[in-house]
Amino acid sequence: MAHDNSKRMTPASLSSLYGRIIHNENQRLKICFCSDMDKSVLLNNFEKRGWSQVTADDDWNFYWAGTQTCRNIFSVDSGYRMHDNQLINHFPNHYELSRKDLLVKNIKRYRKDLERDGSPLAEKVNDGGMHGVKYLYLDFIPVTFVLPADYNMFVEEYRKNTQSTWIMKPTGKSQGAGIFLINKLSKLKRWSREAKTPFHPAIGKESYVISRYIDNPLLIGGKKFDLRLYVLVTSFRPLKAYLFKLGFCRFCTVKYDTSVTELDNMYVHLTNVSVQKTGGEYNNLHGGKWSVQNLKLFLEGTKGKKVTEKLFGGINWLIVHSLKAVQPVMASDRHCFECYGYDIIIDNNLKAWLVEVNASPSLTSTTVNDRILKYKLIDNILNVVLPPEGIPDVRWNKIPNAENLGNFELLIDEELASQTQDDNLLNNLTGKQRVNNRWK
Ligand SMILES: Nc1ncnc2c1ncn2[C@@H]1O[C@H](COP(=O)(O)OP(=O)(O)O)[C@@H](O)[C@H]1O
Ligand SMILES: [Mg+2]
Repeated sequence: MAHDNSKRMTPASLSSLYGRIIHNENQRLKICFCSDMDKSVLLNNFEKRGWSQVTADDDWNFYWAGTQTCRNIFSVDSGYRMHDNQLINHFPNHYELSRKDLLVKNIKRYRKDLERDGSPLAEKVNDGGMHGVKYLYLDFIPVTFVLPADYNMFVEEYRKNTQSTWIMKPTGKSQGAGIFLINKLSKLKRWSREAKTPFHPAIGKESYVISRYIDNPLLIGGKKFDLRLYVLVTSFRPLKAYLFKLGFCRFCTVKYDTSVTELDNMYVHLTNVSVQKTGGEYNNLHGGKWSVQNLKLFLEGTKGKKVTEKLFGGINWLIVHSLKAVQPVMASDRHCFECYGYDIIIDNNLKAWLVEVNASPSLTSTTVNDRILKYKLIDNILNVVLPPEGIPDVRWNKIPNAENLGNFELLIDEELASQTQDDNLLNNLTGKQRVNNRWK
């Protein structure tokens, strides 16, 4: 049977339309990916899609890079200009969200701005207790100071309640490295005197944050845990963010114990898998992990549906507002998307606290379930960030079809929200119902 090729695009016309995308024998467009990370969950996903691997010097359409590589690409010195068919997995200044000191600085500024504008979101209450005045809706990070810069402010806060425990964290490290707890100012002073590299004002890396230690975490089986949730942002202005429903809890391997003798025992206090893995109690089968869905069922059963819903509503709330806090400072480059790993602690009042945000959450799999989950995560990310045709294109409006969301749920899409508002306004004006086909 003769084929009508007249309407078909020639390889030449396709390549001019899609920039540097090549195609294989079947005339299907082929995507060239590049990655400096040797992670099987990534490579298996790209290969399953029939993408070809190229080097950074070749023409690529999709780059899954480490944060440093990404910063190099965007640096003024590189002189690299991306074309419309290129996507990369980081925003150039992701550190505004992922560096512990900058996250706090941005959230503090965000709250002040809202307060100055008289926003009801910035309402404050006096809790009458040791914490004094606090934000009613935006109190989702533990009180934190940057050291050495805010040392005097920290001392002032410390003296309000000398019984509190504080946690010191280097701003430039991860995986629990360099973290310790203190319950006395003298301990901090001694550490500063004895540390080989005490606070060095000239080197950003050596600064620390000191946060009020959440000493009343919700315990399950007597053990502390935190949540690792994945949040995909495809645009900061307008804000478009999605929550991956398959997050998990990371448990400590030993029972929680607030006694002073256990203050230095990181197996009690830090939930990082990288820390817990080194302990004798680590279980290779479940890896100290529990799905968020299980947690939800457990909490609904033990604490009730209403409070559980409130807790998870609070988690969505803190994610959205942490993103809004960095909205004005993020370079919302259309070539970028980013999947953040949120670390969240739930206290025994079922209140969620934001601990930190990772721009390069671990893609290492510790168990079979972990591998399945991370494979799905990458697959779902690709489905959300790529237009329906599957070809990177920054001209696309970044409104994915419902079926492409997979395990992601929409947290916020300011563009959709404003369109809906416009629609409602128009409906009210015209008295007509407009068909909303954006999710088709
Ligand atoms: N304010 C806090 N209160 C209680 N536990 C905390 C607090 N901050 C951190 N942690 C614990 O320490 C772990 C590591 O802290 P995090 O800020 O995530 O640093 P890292 O970059 O090293 O992972 C967290 O996963 C959590 O278990
Ligand atoms: Mg962490």
